[in-house]
Amino acid sequence: MSLIQRLSVLGMAAMAMGLVASHDYGEALTKSILFYEGQRSGKLPPTQRITWRKDSALRDGFEIGVDLVGGYYDAGDNVKFTFPMAFSITMLAWSVLEFGQSLGTDLQHSLKAIQWGTDYLLKATSIPGFVFAQVGDPYGDHNCWERPEDMDTPRTPYAVSKEFPGSEVSAEIAAALAASSMVFRPINRGYSARLLKRARMVFEFADKYRGSYNDSLGPWACPFYCDYSGYQDELVWGAAWLLRATKAPYYRNYVLANIQNLDKSSSFAEFGWDTKHAGINVLVSRASICSIKF
Ligand SMILES: *[C@@H]1O[C@H](CO)[C@@H](O)[C@H](O)[C@H]1NC(C)=O
Repeated sequence: MSLIQRLSVLGMAAMAMGLVASHDYGEALTKSILFYEGQRSGKLPPTQRITWRKDSALRDGFEIGVDLVGGYYDAGDNVKFTFPMAFSITMLAWSVLEFGQSLGTDLQHSLKAIQWGTDYLLKATSIPGFVFAQVGDPYGDHNCWERPEDMDTPRTPYAVSKEFPGSEVSAEIAAALAASSMVFRPINRGYSARLLKRARMVFEFADKYRGSYNDSLGPWACPFYCDYSGYQDELVWGAAWLLRATKAPYYRNYVLANIQNLDKSSSFAEFGWDTKHAGINVLVSRASICSIKF
Protein backbone atom coordinates (compact mmCIF):
# COMPACT_ATOMS: atom_id res chain seq x y z
CA MET A 1 0.00 0.00 0.00
CA SER A 2 1.38 3.42 -0.88
CA LEU A 3 1.79 6.09 1.75
CA ILE A 4 -1.04 8.11 0.22
CA GLN A 5 -3.37 5.11 0.28
CA ARG A 6 -2.42 4.40 3.85
CA LEU A 7 -3.06 8.01 4.78
CA SER A 8 -6.45 8.01 3.12
CA VAL A 9 -7.40 4.79 4.89
CA LEU A 10 -6.33 6.38 8.15
CA GLY A 11 -8.31 9.46 7.16
CA MET A 12 -11.44 7.41 6.58
CA ALA A 13 -10.98 5.58 9.87
CA ALA A 14 -10.52 8.90 11.64
CA MET A 15 -13.64 10.31 10.01
CA ALA A 16 -15.62 7.20 10.98
CA MET A 17 -14.57 7.74 14.57
CA GLY A 18 -15.48 11.42 14.42
CA LEU A 19 -11.89 12.52 15.09
CA VAL A 20 -11.38 14.87 12.17
CA ALA A 21 -13.56 17.65 13.50
CA SER A 22 -11.42 17.81 16.62
CA HIS A 23 -8.26 18.74 14.71
CA ASP A 24 -7.34 22.39 15.08
CA TYR A 25 -5.72 23.16 11.74
CA GLY A 26 -5.11 26.77 12.74
CA GLU A 27 -3.00 25.60 15.67
CA ALA A 28 -1.15 23.14 13.41
CA LEU A 29 -0.35 25.95 10.98
CA THR A 30 0.78 28.27 13.77
CA LYS A 31 3.08 25.56 15.14
CA SER A 32 4.47 24.71 11.72
CA ILE A 33 5.55 28.34 11.34
CA LEU A 34 6.90 28.40 14.90
CA PHE A 35 8.92 25.28 14.03
CA TYR A 36 11.15 27.38 11.74
CA GLU A 37 12.37 29.29 14.81
CA GLY A 38 13.50 26.02 16.38
CA GLN A 39 15.57 25.30 13.27
CA ARG A 40 17.32 28.69 13.23
CA SER A 41 21.08 28.70 13.04
CA GLY A 42 23.25 31.70 13.92
CA LYS A 43 22.77 34.72 16.16
CA LEU A 44 19.20 34.66 17.45
CA PRO A 45 17.23 37.90 17.79
CA PRO A 46 15.53 39.11 21.01
CA THR A 47 12.16 38.29 19.40
CA GLN A 48 13.06 34.57 19.26
CA ARG A 49 10.00 32.67 20.56
CA ILE A 50 11.55 29.22 21.03
CA THR A 51 13.81 30.38 23.83
CA TRP A 52 15.51 27.07 24.61
CA ARG A 53 17.28 27.45 21.26
CA LYS A 54 20.40 29.64 21.68
CA ASP A 55 23.02 31.14 19.37
CA SER A 56 24.96 28.51 17.42
CA ALA A 57 27.36 28.07 14.50
CA LEU A 58 28.52 31.68 14.80
CA ARG A 59 31.68 31.04 12.76
CA ASP A 60 30.23 29.16 9.78
CA GLY A 61 32.33 29.99 6.71
CA PHE A 62 34.96 31.93 8.68
CA GLU A 63 37.66 29.32 7.98
CA ILE A 64 37.51 30.35 4.31
CA GLY A 65 36.79 34.03 4.95
CA VAL A 66 33.08 33.95 4.05
CA ASP A 67 30.21 34.84 6.36
CA LEU A 68 27.83 31.88 6.23
CA VAL A 69 26.25 32.47 9.64
CA GLY A 70 22.49 32.01 9.80
CA GLY A 71 19.95 30.01 7.84
CA TYR A 72 18.23 26.86 8.99
CA TYR A 73 19.38 23.47 10.18
CA ASP A 74 18.00 20.67 8.10
CA ALA A 75 16.06 18.36 10.38
CA GLY A 76 17.27 16.57 13.48
CA ASP A 77 20.82 17.24 12.34
CA ASN A 78 22.93 20.38 12.25
CA VAL A 79 23.85 20.47 8.56
CA LYS A 80 22.64 23.42 6.52
CA PHE A 81 21.59 21.87 3.19
CA THR A 82 20.84 24.81 0.90
CA PHE A 83 18.85 22.87 -1.72
CA PRO A 84 15.91 21.78 0.49
CA MET A 85 16.31 24.95 2.58
CA ALA A 86 15.78 27.15 -0.48
CA PHE A 87 12.77 25.06 -1.52
CA SER A 88 11.21 25.61 1.92
CA ILE A 89 11.67 29.37 1.45
CA THR A 90 10.12 29.24 -2.02
CA MET A 91 7.09 27.46 -0.53
CA LEU A 92 6.77 29.85 2.40
CA ALA A 93 6.93 32.80 0.00
CA TRP A 94 4.38 31.22 -2.33
CA SER A 95 2.06 30.58 0.65
CA VAL A 96 2.28 34.22 1.71
CA LEU A 97 1.67 35.43 -1.85
CA GLU A 98 -1.46 33.27 -2.16
CA PHE A 99 -2.83 33.20 1.40
CA GLY A 100 -0.98 35.92 3.32
CA GLN A 101 -4.13 37.88 4.02
CA SER A 102 -5.70 34.82 5.69
CA LEU A 103 -2.74 34.17 7.99
CA GLY A 104 -3.73 36.62 10.72
CA THR A 105 -0.97 37.14 13.28
CA ASP A 106 1.06 34.37 11.63
CA LEU A 107 1.65 36.61 8.62
CA GLN A 108 4.33 38.57 10.50
CA HIS A 109 5.95 35.35 11.74
CA SER A 110 5.90 33.95 8.21
CA LEU A 111 7.63 37.07 6.87
CA LYS A 112 10.30 36.66 9.55
CA ALA A 113 10.69 32.99 8.63
CA ILE A 114 11.17 33.92 4.98
CA GLN A 115 13.68 36.66 5.74
CA TRP A 116 15.70 34.38 8.02
CA GLY A 117 16.09 32.19 4.95
CA THR A 118 16.65 34.91 2.34
CA ASP A 119 19.27 36.70 4.49
CA TYR A 120 21.19 33.41 4.47
CA LEU A 121 20.63 32.76 0.75
CA LEU A 122 22.11 36.21 0.05
CA LYS A 123 25.20 35.18 2.04
CA ALA A 124 25.38 31.81 0.26
CA THR A 125 25.49 33.59 -3.11
CA SER A 126 27.57 36.66 -2.18
CA ILE A 127 30.63 35.62 -4.23
CA PRO A 128 29.89 35.68 -7.99
CA GLY A 129 30.65 32.32 -9.58
CA PHE A 130 30.07 30.36 -6.37
CA VAL A 131 27.00 29.07 -4.58
CA PHE A 132 27.34 27.53 -1.14
CA ALA A 133 25.34 24.32 -1.29
CA GLN A 134 25.83 23.26 2.31
CA VAL A 135 27.67 23.86 5.56
CA GLY A 136 28.64 21.01 7.87
CA ASP A 137 30.36 17.71 7.10
CA PRO A 138 27.27 15.46 6.93
CA TYR A 139 29.17 12.29 7.95
CA GLY A 140 30.79 13.90 10.97
CA ASP A 141 27.49 15.51 11.89
CA HIS A 142 25.42 12.35 11.60
CA ASN A 143 27.94 10.31 13.56
CA CYS A 144 27.57 12.58 16.56
CA TRP A 145 24.18 13.71 17.75
CA GLU A 146 24.61 17.01 19.55
CA ARG A 147 22.66 20.19 20.11
CA PRO A 148 23.88 22.84 17.64
CA GLU A 149 24.78 25.03 20.64
CA ASP A 150 27.35 22.40 21.73
CA MET A 151 28.48 20.90 18.45
CA ASP A 152 32.16 20.26 17.82
CA THR A 153 31.85 18.50 14.46
CA PRO A 154 33.45 19.95 11.28
CA ARG A 155 31.49 22.89 9.86
CA THR A 156 32.95 22.40 6.39
CA PRO A 157 31.49 24.70 3.71
CA TYR A 158 30.79 23.17 0.28
CA ALA A 159 30.30 25.30 -2.83
CA VAL A 160 29.43 24.66 -6.45
CA SER A 161 31.24 26.76 -9.04
CA LYS A 162 31.66 27.26 -12.78
CA GLU A 163 33.94 24.23 -12.97
CA PHE A 164 31.88 22.14 -10.57
CA PRO A 165 28.32 23.32 -11.24
CA GLY A 166 25.10 22.73 -9.35
CA SER A 167 22.19 23.91 -11.47
CA GLU A 168 19.49 22.41 -9.21
CA VAL A 169 20.65 24.07 -5.99
CA SER A 170 21.40 27.36 -7.76
CA ALA A 171 18.12 27.54 -9.69
CA GLU A 172 16.15 26.67 -6.54
CA ILE A 173 17.85 29.57 -4.75
CA ALA A 174 16.88 31.79 -7.69
CA ALA A 175 13.25 30.63 -7.32
CA ALA A 176 13.29 31.32 -3.57
CA LEU A 177 14.79 34.80 -4.00
CA ALA A 178 12.42 35.73 -6.84
CA ALA A 179 9.32 34.53 -4.95
CA SER A 180 10.48 36.30 -1.77
CA SER A 181 11.16 39.52 -3.69
CA MET A 182 7.43 39.59 -4.52
CA VAL A 183 6.53 39.05 -0.87
CA PHE A 184 8.68 41.99 0.26
CA ARG A 185 7.85 44.33 -2.64
CA PRO A 186 5.01 46.15 -0.82
CA ILE A 187 6.85 46.09 2.55
CA ASN A 188 10.52 46.84 1.89
CA ARG A 189 11.29 47.92 -1.66
CA GLY A 190 15.05 48.06 -1.22
CA TYR A 191 15.28 44.54 0.17
CA SER A 192 12.91 43.25 -2.50
CA ALA A 193 15.05 44.76 -5.26
CA ARG A 194 18.17 43.22 -3.75
CA LEU A 195 16.56 39.78 -3.69
CA LEU A 196 15.39 40.07 -7.27
CA LYS A 197 18.75 41.27 -8.56
CA ARG A 198 20.47 38.33 -6.87
CA ALA A 199 17.82 35.92 -8.17
CA ARG A 200 18.59 36.96 -11.76
CA MET A 201 22.32 36.61 -11.18
CA VAL A 202 22.09 33.18 -9.57
CA PHE A 203 19.69 31.96 -12.25
CA GLU A 204 22.15 33.00 -14.94
CA PHE A 205 24.89 31.08 -13.14
CA ALA A 206 22.63 28.00 -12.84
CA ASP A 207 21.74 28.10 -16.52
CA LYS A 208 25.12 28.98 -17.99
CA TYR A 209 27.14 26.42 -16.03
CA ARG A 210 24.95 23.38 -16.23
CA GLY A 211 25.43 20.29 -14.18
CA SER A 212 24.18 18.49 -11.12
CA TYR A 213 25.71 18.98 -7.68
CA ASN A 214 25.35 15.20 -7.45
CA ASP A 215 28.44 15.02 -9.63
CA SER A 216 30.18 18.18 -8.41
CA LEU A 217 29.97 17.51 -4.68
CA GLY A 218 29.85 13.73 -4.96
CA PRO A 219 29.33 11.90 -1.67
CA TRP A 220 29.07 15.13 0.32
CA ALA A 221 25.68 15.93 -1.26
CA CYS A 222 24.35 12.54 -2.35
CA PRO A 223 23.23 10.16 -0.55
CA PHE A 224 21.82 12.99 1.61
CA TYR A 225 19.85 15.15 -0.82
CA CYS A 226 20.48 13.44 -4.16
CA ASP A 227 19.08 15.26 -7.11
CA TYR A 228 17.03 12.36 -8.43
CA SER A 229 14.93 14.32 -10.90
CA GLY A 230 17.75 16.21 -12.64
CA TYR A 231 18.11 19.98 -12.79
CA GLN A 232 15.85 20.78 -15.78
CA ASP A 233 12.85 21.13 -13.49
CA GLU A 234 14.63 23.63 -11.21
CA LEU A 235 15.74 25.67 -14.24
CA VAL A 236 12.16 25.94 -15.51
CA TRP A 237 10.82 26.52 -11.97
CA GLY A 238 13.39 29.26 -11.36
CA ALA A 239 12.58 30.89 -14.70
CA ALA A 240 8.83 30.65 -13.97
CA TRP A 241 9.30 32.49 -10.65
CA LEU A 242 11.51 35.08 -12.32
CA LEU A 243 8.84 35.49 -14.98
CA ARG A 244 6.19 36.06 -12.33
CA ALA A 245 8.44 38.53 -10.48
CA THR A 246 9.71 40.46 -13.52
CA LYS A 247 7.26 39.78 -16.38
CA ALA A 248 10.38 39.89 -18.57
CA PRO A 249 10.06 38.29 -22.04
CA TYR A 250 13.44 36.62 -21.51
CA TYR A 251 12.03 34.34 -18.78
CA ARG A 252 8.80 33.78 -20.69
CA ASN A 253 10.79 32.59 -23.69
CA TYR A 254 13.00 30.50 -21.43
CA VAL A 255 10.01 28.72 -19.91
CA LEU A 256 8.47 28.14 -23.34
CA ALA A 257 11.70 26.79 -24.79
CA ASN A 258 12.62 24.51 -21.90
CA ILE A 259 9.38 23.21 -20.45
CA GLN A 260 9.32 20.51 -23.13
CA ASN A 261 12.66 19.19 -21.89
CA LEU A 262 11.27 18.15 -18.53
CA ASP A 263 11.79 14.52 -17.75
CA LYS A 264 8.62 12.79 -18.95
CA SER A 265 9.20 9.74 -16.81
CA SER A 266 8.45 11.44 -13.51
CA SER A 267 4.89 12.22 -12.66
CA PHE A 268 3.49 15.58 -13.69
CA ALA A 269 1.62 15.53 -10.38
CA GLU A 270 4.72 15.15 -8.22
CA PHE A 271 5.94 18.06 -6.12
CA GLY A 272 8.61 18.32 -3.45
CA TRP A 273 12.12 19.60 -2.77
CA ASP A 274 13.48 17.55 -5.69
CA THR A 275 10.74 17.23 -8.32
CA LYS A 276 9.02 20.51 -9.20
CA HIS A 277 6.68 19.37 -11.98
CA ALA A 278 3.28 19.95 -10.33
CA GLY A 279 4.43 23.30 -8.96
CA ILE A 280 5.62 24.37 -12.41
CA ASN A 281 2.25 23.37 -13.89
CA VAL A 282 0.28 25.39 -11.37
CA LEU A 283 2.58 28.41 -11.58
CA VAL A 284 2.76 28.50 -15.36
CA SER A 285 -0.95 27.85 -15.82
CA ARG A 286 -1.57 31.13 -14.00
CA ALA A 287 1.05 33.13 -15.88
CA SER A 288 -1.16 33.57 -18.97
CA ILE A 289 1.43 32.08 -21.26
CA CYS A 290 -0.24 30.68 -24.32
CA SER A 291 0.86 27.74 -26.43
CA ILE A 292 2.31 25.62 -23.63
CA LYS A 293 0.88 22.15 -23.67
CA PHE A 294 1.08 19.56 -20.95
C1 LIG B 1 21.97 11.70 -8.49
O1 LIG B 1 22.23 10.50 -7.79
C2 LIG B 1 21.11 9.64 -7.63
C3 LIG B 1 21.48 8.51 -6.69
O2 LIG B 1 22.59 7.83 -7.17
C4 LIG B 1 20.64 9.19 -8.99
O3 LIG B 1 19.49 8.37 -8.86
C5 LIG B 1 20.31 10.42 -9.84
O4 LIG B 1 19.97 10.02 -11.15
C6 LIG B 1 21.47 11.39 -9.90
N1 LIG B 1 21.04 12.60 -10.56
C7 LIG B 1 21.71 13.20 -11.53
C8 LIG B 1 21.13 14.45 -12.05
O5 LIG B 1 22.76 12.77 -11.97
